[in-house]
Amino acid sequence: SAPKLSPIMRMHQDATEFYHRVLLTTKAGERGMQYAKKRELDHDTLEHFKIGYAPKQDNVLITYLRGKGYQDDDLAKSGLFVQSKDGRLFDRFRDRLMFPLDNENGKTIGFSGRRISNDKTEAKYMNSPETEIFTKSKVLFHFAEAKRAARSEGHLILYEGYMDVIAAYKAGVKSGIASMGTSLTDDQIYMLRRVTPNIIVNYDGDDPGVHAEERAARMFNKDGNFNLGIVVLPEKLDPDEYVRKYGAEKYREEVKGALTPTDFFLKRLAQKYNLDNDREKITYLNEAIKEISQVRNPVEQDMYVEKLARSAGVSIESLKANLARERRKNN
Ligand code: GTP
Ligand code: MN
Ligand code: MN
Ligand code: MN
Ligand code: MN
Repeated sequence: SAPKLSPIMRMHQDATEFYHRVLLTTKAGERGMQYAKKRELDHDTLEHFKIGYAPKQDNVLITYLRGKGYQDDDLAKSGLFVQSKDGRLFDRFRDRLMFPLDNENGKTIGFSGRRISNDKTEAKYMNSPETEIFTKSKVLFHFAEAKRAARSEGHLILYEGYMDVIAAYKAGVKSGIASMGTSLTDDQIYMLRRVTPNIIVNYDGDDPGVHAEERAARMFNKDGNFNLGIVVLPEKLDPDEYVRKYGAEKYREEVKGALTPTDFFLKRLAQKYNLDNDREKITYLNEAIKEISQVRNPVEQDMYVEKLARSAGVSIESLKANLARERRKNN
């Protein structure tokens, strides 16, 4: 039989069900439902992700969980509450759309809450603090479900935000996961390695997103065990915005068209220089050869050299000579 869950674990499963029920069936939840509709979250999606709503009042969850018999010392260390100076407990999450964060077995171990109000002085997302069951650096949103989908889709797709994972899911891409807004950790890379070597990175199309993709690509390359694809969406869109604007089918095409890390870096490089200027073009070609020299597989290296020669209008032989010199430098 299943091992018995600790009170803090049980509390989190109860909180997930509670917030979910509040959203779907209560008067207090109508505000959350309005927001969910605005974000185009249909019923199936709300169910799949067990999305919920934490009402405005500061004592709703605490009252519910006490009623279920949980003790205050357990409640206090769950991370679900904040404690006033005189030791009283209040709901941490208020007036937020609630995303349960699961462990590898699909059990809730923490939450992230999306602000619903327009009050920009409040953080857009609020996360559970670190607790005895919740370690931020080891959590990947939707990981338990995505692992299963990875078997049929053949890859995992890494997103920046929860709403991107959700939008992709609605668009039929079910192997999406997200770290908690932070850059990827070694622990998370290790988690991915056990599922599949095929990772697609699809962060937001804005500058911070593309920079984060560069960082992620370097990390995966350094690990050496991955086969990476990188999607850069146009118009600085994030995947959620892209699906809304262009639809599911177009989005799936973007995923299919994911670039290899080398193509991604070469494309970034080309954007940095004015290629109509000879001096800049020479610098670009030298940088590009440096990038290509990092590729381990000689057949792949040839492929990139040929492509570069064609696009830059220079001979393959001269680029290969430069590449050989670069390789000697690397060794
Ligand atoms: P939406 O505006 O709801 O579509 O969110 P988003 O996912 O597009 O947000 P954004 O691209 O700004 O940030 C990506 C991710 O960073 C989010 O999904 C969160 O995980 C995280 N993040 C964003 N804002 C905050 C914040 O104010 N606090 C914390 N802790 N995390 C944040
Ligand atoms: Mn339900
Ligand atoms: Mn972003
Ligand atoms: Mn975004
Ligand atoms: Mn977004």
